Amino acid sequence: MRVAIALLVVAAACSSKSAGAPTPPPPTPAADAAVAPPPADPRVARGQAAFQKYCALCHGPEAKGYVADHAPSLVSTTFLESADDTFIARSIELGRPNTPMAGYGKELGGPLSDADIVDIVAWLRHQRPTYKAPPPATGKGDAKAGAALYASACQKCHGDPTTRAEAVQLGHPVFLALASDAFLRDAIVRGRPDTPMMAFGAALSPQQIDDLVAHLRAWATPPVPPAPPPVPTPTGPVVLNPKGKAPSFTLRDDRFVPSAQVAAALKQKKQLVIVDSRPPSDWLALRIPGAISIPHYEPAGIDKIPNDGTWVLAYCACPHHASGIIVDELRKRGFKHTAVIDEGILFWHQQGYPVEGTAAGQPLPKAPPGAAAHDHDHVH
Ligand code: HEC
Ligand code: HEC
Repeated sequence: MRVAIALLVVAAACSSKSAGAPTPPPPTPAADAAVAPPPADPRVARGQAAFQKYCALCHGPEAKGYVADHAPSLVSTTFLESADDTFIARSIELGRPNTPMAGYGKELGGPLSDADIVDIVAWLRHQRPTYKAPPPATGKGDAKAGAALYASACQKCHGDPTTRAEAVQLGHPVFLALASDAFLRDAIVRGRPDTPMMAFGAALSPQQIDDLVAHLRAWATPPVPPAPPPVPTPTGPVVLNPKGKAPSFTLRDDRFVPSAQVAAALKQKKQLVIVDSRPPSDWLALRIPGAISIPHYEPAGIDKIPNDGTWVLAYCACPHHASGIIVDELRKRGFKHTAVIDEGILFWHQQGYPVEGTAAGQPLPKAPPGAAAHDHDHVH
């Protein structure tokens, strides 16, 4: 550690040299350390870089959220004050299956080691409010009264255990496993400044807030899921039905192909390539049969696709954001026939089109009414 800090100090000193100025004799590390400000925490810089690579496309470059998929802010004051490091780190590691939030942990097939996740948490916390344990919940709520209040005041944004609306899915088993009653209560009382989540502390009585917490808790108190054993890296043939005819697709805006056309082409054994642009952990859990894994943050994987006019389709859960990055990259490289599968994999699954993966046998998530092809908060 001491060596790393000394190196950082030297590096900082070197980069502050201006071009053309006479080069001063190299300072000895000891002399320099006496005048330099305390060196930055190296985890913060690493965490920031990882966040830009993997997370910014939804949560935004500053982690304020709402760039795609209604991804929440990760830096609102009340979130950082009430969420402990375990809540944040395990949310990143495990993700929220069946939402756009993938599991990024290595053991799930994602790209991040425990140390990488610690770096991201360090960056999120850097120069921002620190964790203060929220006041304990009373445990005296009435779940039945809470259910009625939830249906009228919360459900339209937060959905229920089987249906995600636009905001964080409070009925999600992984969320409920990680969130304490005190965390839930604090979020309801103080809200999340600079987001659509208002503070209900003045509008509702303490009893009503306890009732809401009791209702959320009645959905589930699952144990925190253990990390599963490591999984192999996905491999497989690239081109599906190499002897089949080329499909003919009608694209919307020269970019989007409806799921129904893709399902029909697969049934007719047409020749095409399907790219899953999410982290490999999501690919392992649920994919279109035969889709290859090229995560949006590693577009070099495109090298393995033949650039010979074969149709190449990309999808994500977003439904357009990560897949759009891959399609842009394909077009930049001169691929002739490319498209984004319009509604994304969650819609595909809801329609009952074929899927494979470890989660393929699980009950279908319900689509929120009218949610299919809507995608409000980004431009692709
Ligand atoms: C494809 C979009 C997308 C990407 C990429 C993404 N997230 Fe998320 N993230 C979401 C959404 C959407 C949610 C809320 C899920 C839900 O409905 O509960 C979420 C939830 C979270 C939460 C829980 C927040 C809370 O209030 O409960 C954390 C922490 C988080 N993401 C961190 C990350 C980090 C770190 C990365 C990168 C390694 C990342 N996310 C990448 C979309 C994304
Ligand atoms: C207008 C939409 C809307 C309504 C209505 C709403 N919320 Fe929220 N809520 C949100 C959003 C958006 C977030 C995430 C904010 C962020 O951090 O970006 C949130 C966050 C939360 C969180 C914290 C989740 C986390 O992981 O940080 C809790 C708990 C919560 N809301 C409970 C409720 C309850 C209970 C009600 C009803 C009394 C309610 N909300 C009403 C939009 C809403």
